[in-house]
Amino acid sequence: MLEQIQQATQFIQSKTQRTPRIGIILGTGLGALAKELIIETTLSYETIPHFPLSTVEFHSGKLLLGTLEGKPVVVMQGRFHYYEGYSMQQVTFPVRVMHALGVRTLLVSNAAGGMNPDFQTTDLMVIEDHISLLLPQNPLVGPNPPEFGDRFPDMSEPYSKSLIDLAFILAANLGIPLKRGVYVSVTGPQLETRAEYRMLRQWGADAVGMSTVPEVIVANQMGMAVFGASVITDMCFPDTLEKADITKIIAAAGTAEPKLTALMKALVGQLND
Ligand code: HPA
Repeated sequence: MLEQIQQATQFIQSKTQRTPRIGIILGTGLGALAKELIIETTLSYETIPHFPLSTVEFHSGKLLLGTLEGKPVVVMQGRFHYYEGYSMQQVTFPVRVMHALGVRTLLVSNAAGGMNPDFQTTDLMVIEDHISLLLPQNPLVGPNPPEFGDRFPDMSEPYSKSLIDLAFILAANLGIPLKRGVYVSVTGPQLETRAEYRMLRQWGADAVGMSTVPEVIVANQMGMAVFGASVITDMCFPDTLEKADITKIIAAAGTAEPKLTALMKALVGQLND
């Protein structure tokens, strides 16, 4: 895999003049931040050596290089999901490539179901912690060359406390209400049963989704500082559960998107490049 990472990295480097220190992964229905970039290069995933192909139609599947708030950034517009049939190593391959490009801070977003009764649809939840244990595979299982990082990475602070604190200060200045909570990842693609939501809530999760955690595990192994935010797209209370409607979920993501975009932009503005 090291050679594949190198080849992908060299290809991307041949298309840009800059060294991005900040990487951003935009979740389902949350691509609008891309419009705020001054784009230098757009690379479809299928043109990058060894990148998996994005298969879900509402993920546009592009790597964007450019500047945001004057800082060089690399942005994944669309990510890879385990439910599409990729291995966890494939799902997280772009994070390793981002690291090889120079990225040391990773900002991630996703759409998630809300299980905390204090939440409402279109709320923005800062991810304080996560639960990975329900995933059937782990991106760190297998050979672990030293370039990957520790064999047994620490997970005591998978989401940078200083970035979380900064986000709350910036959001307050922008007038954006923020929630905070624990994100649990499942593979999907089916949504959860009532019994599953009840269990996930009892296990301490505030939001549930089908992404993010594998990428964050790999980013942590590589020593990156991570910030994550979930847009709450549907409410998942076992006793009052309504039928899931994917068009409503995407619409809720779209409604919350301006808040997320403003917050991410403000955060990037405060980061070192
Ligand atoms: N479950 C899993 N993933 C999701 C959900 C959900 O309820 N809502 C949005 N993504």
